[in-house]
Formats: sequence, structure tokens, C-alpha cells
Amino acid sequence: MSHSSSAPTPMSFTKSGPLTGRVRVPGDKSISHRALMLSALAVGESVIEGLLEGEDVLATAAAMRAMGARIERGADDVWRVHGVGVGGLLQPESALDMGNSGTSTRLLMGLVASHAITATFTGDASLSKRPMARVTDPLGTMGAQFSCSPGEKGNQYLPIMVRGACPALPISYRLPMASAQVKSAILLAGLNTPGITTVIEPVPTRDHSERMLAGFGARLDISTDADGARVISLHGEAELKPQHVIVPGDPSSAAFPMVAASIVPGSEVRIDNVGINPTRAGLIHVLKDMGADITLVDERIVGGEPVADLIVRHATLKGIETAPDVVPSMVDEFPILFIAAACADGTSIFRGLEELRVKESDRISVMAKGLEAIGVRVEELEDGLIVHGSGGAALDGGATIAAELDHRIAMSFAIAGLVSAAPVTIDDMSPVATSFPVFTAMLEGLGAR
Ligand code: S3P
Repeated sequence: MSHSSSAPTPMSFTKSGPLTGRVRVPGDKSISHRALMLSALAVGESVIEGLLEGEDVLATAAAMRAMGARIERGADDVWRVHGVGVGGLLQPESALDMGNSGTSTRLLMGLVASHAITATFTGDASLSKRPMARVTDPLGTMGAQFSCSPGEKGNQYLPIMVRGACPALPISYRLPMASAQVKSAILLAGLNTPGITTVIEPVPTRDHSERMLAGFGARLDISTDADGARVISLHGEAELKPQHVIVPGDPSSAAFPMVAASIVPGSEVRIDNVGINPTRAGLIHVLKDMGADITLVDERIVGGEPVADLIVRHATLKGIETAPDVVPSMVDEFPILFIAAACADGTSIFRGLEELRVKESDRISVMAKGLEAIGVRVEELEDGLIVHGSGGAALDGGATIAAELDHRIAMSFAIAGLVSAAPVTIDDMSPVATSFPVFTAMLEGLGAR
């Protein structure tokens, strides 16, 4: 099922006329993973609507099945999950293949860490280079044991075998980096741990785990400490009740048509059903500050998450300097924001992006190389990027981009192709199936070439 085993799929994107129409983006990836995991830990049948059927989420589904949950997709596209109960995960018979998915790996390590089972996690070439000590360190303090490939700078890399501790020890852990994956791994481990497991986050990150844990009936206390950090305490051993989850559209996927409509002259696109949770909505604010024409309509709450439809029209963008504190609310959107900055009037400065270096690729250096290849002037910084915009003029294009098995790099340069004088070729579009399987069909539907 992993794209890494299939042949690369190169694809070219060419200067396009106005993008027009109405689209719906696939379900939120972060929420989809959590919906499967918590449903698999509830007692009874949960129903999930709008689940993202991308490779990353399917890796989570396969892992939860391998650990005992019954998971079925109905003809109505609705998923039904019969959970095993907290504490009820079974020993998987073979290694859990996480494909390209860092979220599956880190969150599932959290679940395994407090169950009396042993599981081995493997992944593709990109995932096998991503640091895992950020989760193995705190989960090790809870009592789990890890055997893994030793790596650079004392870090740890897949394949990793996790031996869970039962009972695990509750910890209080202050996050050393802004990471919702690390926060969630610890909270998920806390579900089957007696006592109170606490995570302190100095910088708020996406809060889908907290919202959904509370929705499934876990007892969670959230407060702010004297330094202004968020303190999240989970009471174990929790009992989860089955739920009906409705997954909103992924704002990180909506980012691509949002920027495309903003930079392709004459465009007007409506994107329906987009999650606008404040911990995820940074890009909308930054684009608006750059002069983008984005209107939110019909703001509503769906399944405990704020949602709106977005109407985006072409606009003249100006360069911007982003504040470091917006980074967690748009951490996955910087690659496509760099494309918007490349088309803007003036220079943009993005800093505080050190976490981008440990995503599906080193997104600072891979974006810098690709932007230079299509004629954009950039300066790479240790923790960010300076982008000199074209002032709305077409980019040169005429290059093949090495996407480095990174779906968001591939999609970002596809959008750049739509405003480039010569076609932009992506060396391999197959990783896009991890998060946005209908990406090219959606672009063609809007009139892109
Ligand atoms: C995610 C958190 C973020 C994000 C990733 C999904 C999540 O990662 O980049 O795509 O679902 O919790 P970090 O926690 O490493 O910042």
C-alpha cells in the first residue's frame, strides 16, 4: 500500500487561466488518525464520517486492526470501528508498516507504550530518517522499552521495537519542542496508565487530541500555569465510550487551492467544509495580512470542531514577515506559503521554522533548492527562509523538482507550475496519496493545466 514501493509518477504543471469552481477537500488527516485510534479503544461501535482515505490514515487503520480492532468501510463511505477497550490492545503478529506517516508512528508508539504488548514499527525511506527520540524519551520514562537503530546525534530511527509497560508510570512532561505528535503520544499512553499524566506545552499546538479525548469521555483538565503554558492532565485508566465522529475538511489540504486561487489571475474558488480550528488556521490570517481576498462563510461547529466555507479570489499579495508564535498554527503550510511569497510584491522573511527540517523532508532546504530552480531568489537561514517575490510576474519554471518523498513539497511546486512561464515537473507525485489522493483531479476540475 505504500507509495514508496511503486514506481515514481512524474507530472508537469503549466501556466493556467483563471481557476474557478467549488471544491471540497478530503477529511482532516490529524483528526482522522485520532478518530480511528480512539474508536479502536472505545468499548462498542463508533461511526466515522468524512475519514481521510489517504495512505497515512490507512496505515493507522491497518495497525489498529493488527492490534485487535474491527474496522470496516461501508458502501456509504462511512467507517465503523468496534473497539477493544483501553488496555485491550492485542500483540500484533507482524511489524506495523507506517509507510510515510510520522503521526501514525508517534501516536501509536504512545498507545503501545502502556499496553502489555510488543510491536515493531517500520517505515519508508523518508520516515526512517525522522527523529523518534522526542517520543521514545518521555515514553521510556513511563516504563516502555525501545530497541532501535542508533542514529545521528544520539537520536533514534525506525525500525523500532517497542515493549509496552503495564502498568506504566504517569509522568508530568514539559514539551521541549512545539509538537502535537509528542503531546498526543504521551496523552494516549496516559489512557492506560493509572494516575494522572500531564503534558505542559509552553507554545500551544493543535488541540485535536484534547477535544476528541474529551468527546470520547476521558477526564481531562486543562489550565494555564504561571508562565502562560498550557497544562493538560489526563486521568487514567480511562474508559472511552463509542462516538459518532464527523471529520471536517483538512485546512492543510485546503491551503493548496487557497494559495492557487490567490496567485492565479482572475480566479475565484469556493472551498467547502474547511476546518478552522484556531490551532490550525494560521495560514488564513497570514495570507489575509499579505492582502489575500478570503471570505469565511457559514461558520459552524461540526463534530466539536469549528468549520467554514472559504471563498478565495485572486489578489495582489505583498511580502510579509511572520511572527514565530504563528508557526505551530500553520506548521505544515509553510511550503505552499513560500510559493505565495514567491509571487508577492517584495520580500518575505520566515523564521522560527526549525521544526520544518524534520518533517517528511527537510522542508527549508528542499523548498529553497526548488524555488531557486524555478527562478525565485531565496536565502536559506538555519531556522527559516527569505523569499524575494516576483511582484505578480510569472515565475520562470522550466525545472524538474525533487520532491524527496514529501507530499506537501510535490503539491506546492504543482501550484507554482500554474503561475510559471515554462512547465514545472514534479519528479514523483505518488506521495500525494498520503494526504490528498484527489489533488490533481481537484486542480483539473478548477481549470488548471
Ligand atoms: C500532526 C502534528 C504536526 C504536523 C503533522 C501532524 C498531528 O507534527 O506537522 O503533519 O497530527 O499531531 P509535529 O507534532 O511534529 O509538529
